[in-house]
Order: sequence, then C-alpha cells, then structure tokens
Amino acid sequence: MEPAEMKRIVAERAVDMYVKDGMNVGLGTGSTAYFAIKRIGELVADGFDLTCVATSVQSEDLARECGIKVVELDQVDKLDVTIDGADEVDPKMQLIKGLGGALLREKIVAAATVREIIIADSSKRVGKLGTKAPLPVEVLRFGHEHTRFALKRQGCEPVLRMRDGEPFVTDGGNYIYDCRFPEGIDNPFFLESRIDVIPGVVENGLFLNTAYDVLICEEDGSVTSVAEAENRES
Ligand code: A5P
Repeated sequence: MEPAEMKRIVAERAVDMYVKDGMNVGLGTGSTAYFAIKRIGELVADGFDLTCVATSVQSEDLARECGIKVVELDQVDKLDVTIDGADEVDPKMQLIKGLGGALLREKIVAAATVREIIIADSSKRVGKLGTKAPLPVEVLRFGHEHTRFALKRQGCEPVLRMRDGEPFVTDGGNYIYDCRFPEGIDNPFFLESRIDVIPGVVENGLFLNTAYDVLICEEDGSVTSVAEAENRES
C-alpha cells in the first residue's frame, strides 16, 4: 500500500474515533495530520461545531481552506483532543516529533490537550527512539553555534536544518538542529533533562508521556490503536 494511503486511513480512523461535536480540537502538522484536517473539514461541512487550534501556519491555512474555525490557543481553556503525526514511536508510546519543523507549537498545544492522539504509518515504529530519525532541537538564532557545541556534548551530531540553501526558520523565528545519535537514544528522559538546560535551546522533539493513544496503519491497511487494545474509552 502507498504510504499516503496508509496516512489517510489512519488519520480518518483517528478523527472518527475521537472527534465529537462541540469539541475543541488541536490540529497537527505534517503529511499525516493533513488527512486528519481534511476529515475534520468534512465533519464541519456535515454540521459539527468544532473550535480548532493549529500547530503551524501551514495547518492553519489548510484548516481555513477546509472551512474549519481556527482560533488562537489562548482563546480556549483546553483542547479536548489533538490529532498529530510523529516521526518515531517506540513501544511505550514515547515519540520523536519535529521533522516538519513545528515541534514548539506542537508541544505547547499537546500540553493544553486532554487527549493527544498520534497517527502514523508503520514505518514510524521503532524499538528505540533515535534509530531512524534524528532528534530535532529548536534553538535561538543568537549564538546558535555555541548551542550546537553544547548539544554535541550530549553524544550526538547536530546538523543545522537548511532549506533552499538557507537555514530553515521555524514559525517561532528560530533554527533547528537535527541531532543524530549513532546508537539511538538509551534514556530519553535523562537526555531531555540535559538538553532542556542548555542555554539557547527553545524546545526539543522528545514527546515523552504525551500520547493518550497511538494509531498505526499497517501495510495491509489495518489500524492498531493502543487504547483500543487496552480497552480504554475513546
Ligand atoms: C511536525 O513538526 C512533526 O512533528 C510531524 O508531526 C511529524 O514530522 C510527522 O510528519 P509526517 O506525518 O509528515 O510524517
């Protein structure tokens, strides 16, 4: 099955499981979240009254095109559910996010969300975080080379993310270092505590104990849900 088809299947399943009329909903970023936003647009067209908050300018633009009401995060007390993608998912539902460059807003939105729902195709599944994807770390532009040296001391190779020959700039106006750990990440909680105290680091792409449910689409089109397997209510 084509990866885009797997993304569409899992995104639509997650929206149909978790998004109910009247909810405040967080909109993720990336090629999988794209299909969730499209499906949410269909629900709105069918008469659902949803108030949505976007995790990026890109998702906000798409949501408005789909007829979805988008507000600022501070206009809502909380979000009932957010549906977002991930770059890696480990067996304990710990995540790496941020290859799409929206990790800072994604983490703020996730923190304001009751149920963070992660959607992915099976290629995102890993035994250990950091084995396929680098860890994105958003840093201030000021003194970013010094921040890079401090990141390197954590055992990784940080590479400044580029786009069209220039450093990639996030919606927050910052740079991103993609940090490749040669052996993967043994202890993500410890690593996060070390990265977060580096001056110049704005946010890191480890999303630990954040997901309420992870839905994954397999190659044959079947979808597994951790919460469903555990008989938790959706
Ligand atoms: C955006 O910053 C990321 O966290 C995305 O959620 C992540 O990169 C997944 O994107 P895809 O669904 O495009 O793989």
